[in-house]
Amino acid sequence: IPVDPFDLVVFGATGDLARRKILPGLYRRFWAGQMPADSAIIGAARSEMTVEAFRAVVREAIDEHVSAEKRDAATIDAFLDRVDYVTIDAKGEAGWPSLKAEMRKGMVRAFYFSVAPSLFGDLAERLHKHGIADAQSRIVVEKPFGHDLDSARALNATLARHFDEHQIYRIDHYLGKETVQNLMAVRFANILFEPLWNAQYVDHVQITVAETVSVEGRGAYYDRSGAMRDMVQNHIMQLLCLIAMEPPYHFDPDAVRDEKLKVIRALDPVQPQDIVRGQYRAGGGQAGYVDHSENPDSTTESYIALKVHVSNWRWKGTPFYLRTGKRLRARASEIAITFKEPPHSIFDDEKGWRENVLVIRLQPDEGMNLKVMIKEPGPGGMRLVQVPLDMSFAEALGENGTDIPDAYERLIMDVIRGNQTLFMRGDEVEAAWAWTDPVIRGWEDRGDRPQGYDPGSSGPEDALMLMHRDGRRWREIR
Ligand code: BG6
Repeated sequence: IPVDPFDLVVFGATGDLARRKILPGLYRRFWAGQMPADSAIIGAARSEMTVEAFRAVVREAIDEHVSAEKRDAATIDAFLDRVDYVTIDAKGEAGWPSLKAEMRKGMVRAFYFSVAPSLFGDLAERLHKHGIADAQSRIVVEKPFGHDLDSARALNATLARHFDEHQIYRIDHYLGKETVQNLMAVRFANILFEPLWNAQYVDHVQITVAETVSVEGRGAYYDRSGAMRDMVQNHIMQLLCLIAMEPPYHFDPDAVRDEKLKVIRALDPVQPQDIVRGQYRAGGGQAGYVDHSENPDSTTESYIALKVHVSNWRWKGTPFYLRTGKRLRARASEIAITFKEPPHSIFDDEKGWRENVLVIRLQPDEGMNLKVMIKEPGPGGMRLVQVPLDMSFAEALGENGTDIPDAYERLIMDVIRGNQTLFMRGDEVEAAWAWTDPVIRGWEDRGDRPQGYDPGSSGPEDALMLMHRDGRRWREIR
């Protein structure tokens, strides 16, 4: 479905995110026929550059990040025709009148702030001062949205001076992933799961976002963040919200975000014994975390596992185990819901019995797997065996299941449509920091150091204990 024609200004257009995600994503939407041909993409950055030079940057980004079957010369040329460039000084006045001259009447106007958060205020102010933004314009901002609660509040206040909340699109790219949106469809478009979706029937939930990449190349940023700020405060928090929230009355931006906010507010503080932090060692001929971060004394975690509780009627007593880390055995993100035992067993084969588990695989190999008990075939009496009801999106949906759009593509189109459902509201971000801050402060005050783990492993030893202690086990990372 095409969106309305738009003028999209990308500040920081020569930066890494623009080249890897934003520009290739826009191209793919153009290729798919969703981006109207009279829309324009205006790159804006500090570098003095001609339009031709910027188009060459965009062409290179497409070549590198778009799959070959979507790259035909005619479509690329037609797309580049829609691309323009303005040299701009975020902190001064140079370039702003030229940017204003680029903006056309009757177009949706969107401004993507793909720049350091310290420039948000400057950009927002100048967009207004030069009459470039109006009450219909939208701005898109990226994570990190603050470093803690105070800085997030300050950023919200800065943006609020110039834009209303309904104009501000805070991106958490996990919400743009098809499989993450699918969590809501699975829960609220089926009658099957919801009656069991509570502490009475759910033993525990595991949320895993395992990565094989290191922090090489972004060590300086990462060393100031660590896994808690980089992944848990935002992406994993969003997954937790979608799993734990009450049904919104409608699939509507504020209804969904209100319910997520209630989950974040219901999170208990995390106990020190329920936190395990790790840092990958050197190994297999590869450098370790401290080499990548260029900080030999770094106590920043590249892995974290947490046991958290959502204190409300639905979830009281069901722990949520969260873990994420770099340089682990495999790239695998999934959510596993383990159900409780049936109240009474009528079978003698207690040994064969296993819990029902619903696994939602977010990436790669997107799909769902429900483990159920059946009778083992054969004459040997009533023996039980667990089998998977397995569904991969690729198989179930054919081509539609393999050609999954990148999160950014979906989210940018939502900005143009004016749909904020998949974007974080200011209060949500602040609530997430309000929960995160004391956890971090706690380990800083205690002087805790992360435990080393081998690259290619499933994380530090202590993380195993976090679950063993409760008589449970992490699922294998594969
Ligand atoms: C980013 C984090 O937000 O998400 C990175 O800063 C992380 O550290 C990335 O690697 C993971 O995203 P994805 O889409 O590859 O799972």
